[in-house]
Amino acid sequence: MSIKMLSWMTLILASSFSTCAQAQDLSTGNAPVSKPATAHSISPIYGVAIPDGYRNWRLIAPSDRPDLGELRAILGNDLAMAAYRSDRLPFPDGTVLVKLAWKKVPSVEQDGAFVPAATTTVQIMVKDSKRYSATGGWGFGRFVDGSPDDEAQHRACFACHQALVKKHDFVFTRYAE
Ligand code: HEC
Repeated sequence: MSIKMLSWMTLILASSFSTCAQAQDLSTGNAPVSKPATAHSISPIYGVAIPDGYRNWRLIAPSDRPDLGELRAILGNDLAMAAYRSDRLPFPDGTVLVKLAWKKVPSVEQDGAFVPAATTTVQIMVKDSKRYSATGGWGFGRFVDGSPDDEAQHRACFACHQALVKKHDFVFTRYAE
């Protein structure tokens, strides 16, 4: 077998086994906003994926966790924003909330200012009152570098949200005017 043939075979094998790898968007040369959902990219227990286009969603509120050295932003899809802006609870089916978290670092330009650095986690809540009836109607997903975290992490989500914010449809974040 020629070297050329061997390298072609390696290429074909590599591409068929790399379905989880992030594909390049050929039209722009940029990596796409999110990967298509595969068995590898959905959360355990709930089967929640990172929603397409979430980075263009609107801001509900920021938050700060000094103990973890993190800045966060909580974004919502159109249904989430409409519910917040009309003060409506519970959130309707189809609501999606995304919490983005970054390492918090001092600004190199201005003493005393802090800015986001590397992404730490992307966390998601999806409302589907039938599918997730056992957990207040919410499905949860926690992703690190685009990959879902383990089952133990996902067992903790509802427990904490239920213990502390059951009266606010299991959601902590309030709309920041
Ligand atoms: C120990 C308590 C605790 C646990 C466990 C927890 N959360 Fe939260 N979560 C919070 C708090 C507090 C907030 C408010 C915003 C913040 O902290 O930045 C929040 C906010 C959120 C938000 C934004 C909507 C909201 O409720 O404000 C999402 C989405 C979210 N969490 C997803 C998850 C997922 C997914 C898991 C499990 C992998 C999880 N959370 C586990 C405490 C918790």
